[in-house]
Amino acid sequence: MILEYEGKRNEKEIFEAIKLINLKSISRNPMAKSKLIKGDNLAVLKFLIDNGLKGKIDLVYIDPPFSTNNTFRMSKERANSISRSDSDNVAYDDSLVGPEYLEFIREKLILLRDLLSDKGAIYFHIDYKIGHYIKVLMDEIFGKENFVNDITRIKCNPKNFNRKAFGNIKDMILFYSKTREHIWNESKTKFSEEDIKRLFKKVDKDGRRYTTVPLHAPGETKNGPTGQLWRYMFPPKGRHWRSSPKVLEELDKKGLIEWSKNGVPRKKIYADEKDGKKIQDVIEFKDSQNPAYPTEKNLDLLKLIISNSSNKNSIVLDCFCGSGTTLKAAQDLGRKWIGIDQSEEAIKVTLERLKLKQRTLTGEENFEYLEQINELPNKQVIIHHLKLEHSIKNNLPKDKLIVRNS
Ligand SMILES: C[S@@+](CC[C@H](N)C(=O)[O-])C[C@H]1O[C@@H](n2cnc3c(N)ncnc32)[C@H](O)[C@@H]1O
Repeated sequence: MILEYEGKRNEKEIFEAIKLINLKSISRNPMAKSKLIKGDNLAVLKFLIDNGLKGKIDLVYIDPPFSTNNTFRMSKERANSISRSDSDNVAYDDSLVGPEYLEFIREKLILLRDLLSDKGAIYFHIDYKIGHYIKVLMDEIFGKENFVNDITRIKCNPKNFNRKAFGNIKDMILFYSKTREHIWNESKTKFSEEDIKRLFKKVDKDGRRYTTVPLHAPGETKNGPTGQLWRYMFPPKGRHWRSSPKVLEELDKKGLIEWSKNGVPRKKIYADEKDGKKIQDVIEFKDSQNPAYPTEKNLDLLKLIISNSSNKNSIVLDCFCGSGTTLKAAQDLGRKWIGIDQSEEAIKVTLERLKLKQRTLTGEENFEYLEQINELPNKQVIIHHLKLEHSIKNNLPKDKLIVRNS
C-alpha cells in the first residue's frame, strides 16, 4: 500500500535536492564518542551518510513536530521554562500540515533507513491525529514485514475537556526494525503485590507463592526423548514433554512437580524465581508537568527503549532531539549517541542538561558539540569527517587517523 499525495518526490529527487553542508566543531574535542549537532537534520543526516555512518546506527528514536499548527515558545525571563506568550522566544515552529508535513517526515525517514544497521530499529513517537498516516509511510519505507509494534503510551492524567469526545491520554510510538534480526534485550517489569496474588495463587508449606503449568506442549516429537514414555505415561496426543524424561525425573526429585489427586503431573513455578513480567504494548510514562522544553518526553520511557533496542557499543540517533531526552538516556546507559536539532533554545537546554555529567576521568567531555555551516566540503572537511567517523566507529588513538584524498 502506498500513500499518494501532492508533491511526493522519488528518492533520487530527494537526495539530489539536499544541500551539501559542513560541520564546525564548537567544543573542539573531536575524539569524543557522542555528537550534539545544531543544524537542519536533513542536511546533517546526508552528511552522516556521506561520512561513514551509513548502516552504522543501531537505534533511531524520533519525536518530530506532530503537525499541530502551533508555535512553541520559551520564556525570556525564566531559564528553561516554556511560555505561551507571543513575545517570547520561539523554541520551534510546528506549522507544516497535510502533504507538506508528510513529505517533510518522509524525506527524513528515507535517510534514516540508510543510516540504520541491519540489526537496527527505529521508534517514531507521534500522536493519534497524524500517526496513522505515518504508519502507512513507514510501511512503505521500512516494509510492512518489519513493523514490530504500535505502542500506546499513556502520557498524562485524565483530563476533563468539554469536548464531545473521550479524553485523550495516549500517544503512539511506531516501532520498526531494519531487518527481522534486530537487537532485543528484553527488560521486564516487577510483579505488583496484586499480580503475585492473582498469578501465583498457591502457597507451599514454606509460605512461598507458586502456580503450576502443564508438563507438555503442543506438537508431537517423532523420535526424540520428549516423545517417550515417562512414569508409564506418553505425552497426550498431539503434544510432547517440555523436557526429556531424565530432566522430568530430576524435577520431581527436587519437589518441583505437583501431582493431582488423579495422578496428573504439573510443573511448579515460584513467584520469587521469576524476574518480572513481560512489558506489553500499552505503557505508562507520563511527561513532566514542569518541562524544561516544550513537548519534552519522559526520560524513563527513553531508557526503556534504549535498553531494549541497543547494546553497549551501539550508536543511538535522535535527529529531532529537542531538550536531549534521548541523548541523556543514552548517556546514562553508556551508549554512544548523535543528537541533531536546529533550534537555538533546544541546544541551550540540551547543553545545560548534559554538561554536568560530561566530564570523564581524564577531564575530556564525553560529547562533541558541532554546528552546521553552509559551506561546500573541502579538504579540511574530509579530515574533519574522518575524525567524526573515526571517533564514533573505531575509537583509535589520534595518530592512527588515515587521511583520505579529497
Ligand atoms: C517535539 S520536539 C522534540 C522533543 C524531545 N523529544 C524532547 O524530549 O525534548 C521536536 C524538535 O524537532 C526540532 N526540529 C524540527 N524540525 C527540524 C529540522 N528540520 N531539523 C532539526 N531539528 C528540527 C525542533 O526544533 C524541536 O526541538
